[in-house]
Amino acid sequence: MKFATDRPGTWQVCIACGHELTELDPHPRCPACGGLLEVQHRPPEMTSAELLQRFTERRGQRPGALSSGVWRFQEVVLPSARDVISHPEGNTPLLHREVIDRWTGADHLLLKHEGHNPTGSFKDRGMTVGVTQARRIGARAVACASTGNTSASLAAYAAQAGLPTLVLVPAEQVAIGKLAQTLAYGARTLLVRGDFDDCLRLVEDASRSLGVYLLNSINPFRIEGQKTIVLELLQQLAWEPPDWIVLPAGNLGNTAAFGKALLEAYRWGLIPRLPRLAAVQAAGAAPFARSFAEDFENRYAVRAETVATAIRIGDPASFERAVHAIRETNGVVLAVTDEEILEAKAVVDGSGVGCEPASAASVAGVRDLVRRGLMAPDQHAVAVLTGHILKDPGLLLRYHREMEPPPAGANRPIEIAPELGAVEAVLAEMR
Ligand code: F0G
Repeated sequence: MKFATDRPGTWQVCIACGHELTELDPHPRCPACGGLLEVQHRPPEMTSAELLQRFTERRGQRPGALSSGVWRFQEVVLPSARDVISHPEGNTPLLHREVIDRWTGADHLLLKHEGHNPTGSFKDRGMTVGVTQARRIGARAVACASTGNTSASLAAYAAQAGLPTLVLVPAEQVAIGKLAQTLAYGARTLLVRGDFDDCLRLVEDASRSLGVYLLNSINPFRIEGQKTIVLELLQQLAWEPPDWIVLPAGNLGNTAAFGKALLEAYRWGLIPRLPRLAAVQAAGAAPFARSFAEDFENRYAVRAETVATAIRIGDPASFERAVHAIRETNGVVLAVTDEEILEAKAVVDGSGVGCEPASAASVAGVRDLVRRGLMAPDQHAVAVLTGHILKDPGLLLRYHREMEPPPAGANRPIEIAPELGAVEAVLAEMR
């Protein structure tokens, strides 16, 4: 397939009113109607086979930005970018564990572990592009609201770029690993007495009136980077798409990115068919699942509550983009309970893989899809683990050391005197 058009290489378009902006326009939303923006690229000027060949050649190339699992796909991410801010990121593994198959009921579930990114979550893929763009437009400072991972990632990439950084997080509700990272990387950190939805409203106001570049996932350049989770997993599968891709969903930026990646890959001839997307929310923070159940006729905002603090979001910002992603991939939206999330997490952790609570929602979602007959056990599915096990050590210690009665799989530490006999007694019990 050959492509040709007279458009500029990359531009931005409002998905609500169609208003177009140039590639370097810094508005986080459409200046005409306030709608969400989307980055569009002229299709790559080479055949799909040539494009795939280029992606293949760069795999394993080191060092340099093209070894990044994001910039390897530069032609479909941000073709005109130079001097990118890259750690590098991506190149995350696809894992398989039989014990997780048994728990979910799927025959061969693959896990794309985004916790292997530099700051321990998939956010790094969006941030390398977002912070590169911040530098290209000459931003003097950057900001975000966050449940913790976005702020840790922004703090790291902005430190690398030398950009002052402001982050707003809900006081008392950020997992300790994420807060610690954000502070250590040097972001100015505001603990807002409110929830994530309050933080996002406030940072949007601040970015508008104070001229700080906004790097939440409403920023369409973040989405371009996060598309590479899908591109990289497709490449790992030799461009043979799975039947399902399952991911946890909060603010819905990632759901939007997955849909955009799949539709572009299909349109540009990189894959022969579209996988179905399954977006999984926590039952206590499931406004998108509720809309889906009504065929997206209504949009809801809820007061969110869940043990998975990463996705404790009641009014997701990328709603319209995500509706498009689900509709166009014949996708589904599910809600799983906190109990199911913790049970899935215990299985993932116990398999030696490990992930943070929100990530386990995708594994719980796979079990739900199989139980409901939506996914046949022999269908090919990839579940995305979005964050590292050490993001939320507070919850882990409560689960294993403190909860009464001990939950399934709780691994109580045993305090002993410094004597061989005490070790021997424990060992005898283990046999
Ligand atoms: N999983 C993890 C580990 C996350 O940190 C997030 C979002 C999601 C899933 C959901 O992705 O919002 O694109 O639907 N974390 C954001 C943050 C909100 O601030 O770190 P989403």
